[in-house]
Amino acid sequence: MSRDATQAPVLQVRGLDLSYDTPAGALQALRQVNLTIGKGEIVGLVGESGSGKSTLMQAILGLLPGAAKVQGGQILFQGQDLAGLSAPQMRGLLGDRISVVFQDPMTALNPVLTIGRQMIDIQHRSRISRAEKRARAIGMLERVRIPDPESRFNRYPHEFSGGMRQRVAIAMALMARPALLVADEPTTALDATLEIATIDLLRELQAEIGCAILFITHHLGVVAELCDRIDIMYAGEIVESGATAPVFRDPRHPYTQLLFACDPAQISRPMRHLPSIGGGLPDLTHLPPGCIFAPRCPRADATCRATRPADHQAGPSDLVRCHYPLAPRLEITA
Ligand SMILES: Nc1ncnc2c1ncn2[C@@H]1O[C@H](COP(=O)(O)OP(=O)(O)O)[C@@H](O)[C@H]1O
Ligand SMILES: [Mg+2]
Repeated sequence: MSRDATQAPVLQVRGLDLSYDTPAGALQALRQVNLTIGKGEIVGLVGESGSGKSTLMQAILGLLPGAAKVQGGQILFQGQDLAGLSAPQMRGLLGDRISVVFQDPMTALNPVLTIGRQMIDIQHRSRISRAEKRARAIGMLERVRIPDPESRFNRYPHEFSGGMRQRVAIAMALMARPALLVADEPTTALDATLEIATIDLLRELQAEIGCAILFITHHLGVVAELCDRIDIMYAGEIVESGATAPVFRDPRHPYTQLLFACDPAQISRPMRHLPSIGGGLPDLTHLPPGCIFAPRCPRADATCRATRPADHQAGPSDLVRCHYPLAPRLEITA
């Protein structure tokens, strides 16, 4: 799907800087993060563990822990700056216009209440009768392919399988027909077959409801399958962003190039060992002075080590945070 410039984005994160207070000093978890989600777009946010995906999600949802300090930047939801909202206003937004699905569906489900009771409770703002709420909830359970939803309605979460619980959590998140669904690794705990079924279901419901989705994952195959756009995060920065298929064909940031080259699904030639990017994430309490990826980048030169790169438009990508976004593609020869 290409972007409609006439329509205001659902979500716009602009120049977000965030740090955590830690005993070792300020940990610079997000640095100049820019992210845009258009109306009805499915955006995949990928990055290895510790890259700041959950921190960004918590910042968007206003659910940051006390140690987190926003140092600068803006988060606009449908053009409105979320920093200006009171706590009750933010709670009003959550579950109504913004919904969340977490990796562990039990985060959303109360173990001591029946699924039906929870699905009725979640409609507390709606003025329809209890019988109508019940019918809507059962309809939604049917939509997420819960078999025999009438009788399942009176069951407790532990009586559902893991895959079914995640589908119930998705049903609850979408009951209010939100404008934005944020999903943090929602399929990571599921086996491959259930993961595909859940992705199919999400795509189907998204088409019906028309909500935008921010889909957080470290699984590139899922992004290729589901997402209109991809945002690649590395050590607290979005280093590349663009439409999914073209970016998969022609990634411009060296980190994206190496990440794709290391993905088993992308490797066509037989190799004795799976390739991997050498080194590890930098210490975010003591940042390198130049590009955040320079310590691991095979292409890094003196400029990369000394100065932070700006965001460039290059190739199919709207954003490439690299000094050399037009350099030839890096290959891994293992
Ligand atoms: N509450 C916290 N206090 C201090 N540091 C944190 C806290 N939460 C996350 N971090 C740090 O912030 C960075 C990003 O973490 P996170 O957002 O959880 O990444 P991801 O979700 O991509 O794995 C990591 O270096 C992590 O150690
Ligand atoms: Mg996380």
